[in-house]
Amino acid sequence: MTTGTADATHTDMEGTHTIMSITNGTRRRPHRWPQPLAGLRPGIWYGGDYNPEQWPESVWDDDIRLMREAGVNLVSVGIFSWARLQPAPDRWDFDWLDTVIAKLGAAGIAVDLASATASPPPWLTQLHPEILPRDARGDVVWPGARQHWRPTSPVFREYALEMCRRMAEHYKDSPTVVAWHVSNEYGCHNLYDYSDDAMQAFQQWARRKYRTIDAVNEAWGTDFWAQRMTDFDQILPPRFIGEGNFMNPTKLLDFKRFSSDALKDIFIAERDELARITPDKPLTTNFMVSGTTAIVDYDDWGHEVDFVSNDHYFTPGARHLDELAYSASLCDGISRKDPWFLMEHSTSAVNWRQINYRKYPGELVRDSLAHVAMGADAVCYFQWRQSSAGAEKFHSSMVPHAGEDSQVFRDVCELGADLGKLTSAGLLGARVEQAKVAVVFDAQSKWALEHTATPTQALQNWTEPLDWFSALLDDGVTADVVPVAGPWDTYEAVVLPTVYLMGEAMADRVRQYVRNGGKVFVTYASGISDDSDHIWLGGYPGAIRDVVGIRIEEFNPLGSDFDGVDATLDLDNGTVAHDWADAVSSVDDSCEVVARYEAAEDTGMKGVPAVTVNAFGNGYAVYVGCKLGQKGIATSVAPLLDRFGLSDASAEKATGSSAGAERSSAIMKVVRVAESGQRFTFLFNRTREEVRVNLAGTPVVESFATIDEQNHSAVLKPAGVIVLQS
Ligand code: GAL
Repeated sequence: MTTGTADATHTDMEGTHTIMSITNGTRRRPHRWPQPLAGLRPGIWYGGDYNPEQWPESVWDDDIRLMREAGVNLVSVGIFSWARLQPAPDRWDFDWLDTVIAKLGAAGIAVDLASATASPPPWLTQLHPEILPRDARGDVVWPGARQHWRPTSPVFREYALEMCRRMAEHYKDSPTVVAWHVSNEYGCHNLYDYSDDAMQAFQQWARRKYRTIDAVNEAWGTDFWAQRMTDFDQILPPRFIGEGNFMNPTKLLDFKRFSSDALKDIFIAERDELARITPDKPLTTNFMVSGTTAIVDYDDWGHEVDFVSNDHYFTPGARHLDELAYSASLCDGISRKDPWFLMEHSTSAVNWRQINYRKYPGELVRDSLAHVAMGADAVCYFQWRQSSAGAEKFHSSMVPHAGEDSQVFRDVCELGADLGKLTSAGLLGARVEQAKVAVVFDAQSKWALEHTATPTQALQNWTEPLDWFSALLDDGVTADVVPVAGPWDTYEAVVLPTVYLMGEAMADRVRQYVRNGGKVFVTYASGISDDSDHIWLGGYPGAIRDVVGIRIEEFNPLGSDFDGVDATLDLDNGTVAHDWADAVSSVDDSCEVVARYEAAEDTGMKGVPAVTVNAFGNGYAVYVGCKLGQKGIATSVAPLLDRFGLSDASAEKATGSSAGAERSSAIMKVVRVAESGQRFTFLFNRTREEVRVNLAGTPVVESFATIDEQNHSAVLKPAGVIVLQS
């Protein structure tokens, strides 16, 4: 029976919502890692999401037989089990899960147990439709898939916390449960909620952040278009304003910050409920750290987990390995170089793209080892056994539809053996060696640049940090990806790729860093606005004009949406700008121009500086005033990397360089260093051809590689990888 409709019966008062922590205001929890089952040795965790409730009990023993065969030592259980565990408001059924966990424990397989709160059961939304989110137009987001709950709903919170309490009480003494997996991918499907609950919580959040409504007015620039408010209760979420209209950008930015905090708030409540009852079990929630999905501020969330865990799904095509490594490195940065947990990736195709490409031979093992290279001490998949029904039946798994007699399962077994070898060699706990160069990642700049009414909407597809990471790989440099609040100023050089928002504190940090001898590479669209997205006046990039030694009066966006506009601009170093170029109007005396535009006279861009180097204090600031893409960046910065002594002169690069004028390193090299001083060097083939590498160490693991012992070298096939110990 329906007892209400969403919002219609909803009467909670202002103040019911206790949100919230303001982003970045928290102390970090100490790193705690899931410990091995009693009597077993620690190893790299290996397994996946296990959903036994989708299968008859007769399959469970077979699952465990195959898990043992593959070397699986941990599975995540119960993520979407709420409807089974609590079939009615006052009925609980743990029996089936007890059986599953007992079987796993007996086989020496540990359990990462979910809070089971990711997706509410039908009876709950029937009883309390007011927990269903609303979209920007006010329409109800109905059940039918998953995660159909409002992050700010006090009713949902009550039920979710009860579930956490029951789970913790029931499993607090289980020796098989080694970690908690709280909810699942917070915000994946309920990131933005525009309901009345969200509205009230947003008002509370704004009150906490700004104290007075006038401070909100100031921050949001509400004198523009008569938006000045006189009370907090006039604050609305950014609901639908009609097609073609433009939302207040600072309000939108704050709503994104609020939405991240709102989800973090319910996560913290669930976490604390579990931790109160089982203080000894480390907790995590799986992030979605990837080049383009910065849906919440994961670096801020990184302070709130006992260990960072991540889900990553590959980008098909040319950027497969680079994007994976870039995302994994960002995860390592969020984890502050403590080992992290790869909670999900795929053995082959996903099912949620338009076209779901499978992985090529070798890529299953290669991808997992690339995550390990970047600091993962756990390798897990979505999911163990491929579903025969439901929305994910075409998603690859460790045991595919074809069964154990399949290449995927053979690769899964091979990987299990490889991880065992790496464990025996002492990799566990080794840290990724700090690179010379950091590429800074700023989720909030991404959010702000994606708003409407900017110089060009072409930046919606935000790839600048990834372009730099790949370009540096082309130049033989594996960079670390470091969150903007992380320790990027401890590196020899730093890239600030479209770090558009730059408050005073950040600008000072950049200034100090370069003054002390750091080398910074700043791109177009950086340092334009402060934290409230108010433009720094007096010429761009106002936040750090003195550091970069240039002044820009106007932007020169590039496009092809009108006849006769310029889509590209050539640079005199042979590269080509697209989408965005700065019309740099002056350079300081201390500033050297290293590339200029070659444009028609009438454009006003002929001879305008495109790439400059400014001497500032004891350091240098390079400014790249246009979007060049991976290849253009690689070509433009190669001489500067040499000049600053940042190029990796190792043999791998030399042997790996492909012929031709373009500098494109065929190899990605990553090093993890154990506390004992032992080094693990991972070498990956980035190309679709064979590449020969020198063996500066003893091979521990190799895949799609042939070792030539006589010549101390190896040939890596496409998707080939080798791990050397020294
Ligand atoms: C993740 C999710 C999993 C599964 C997977 C498929 O977003 O956590 O439950 O849906 O995607 O790629």
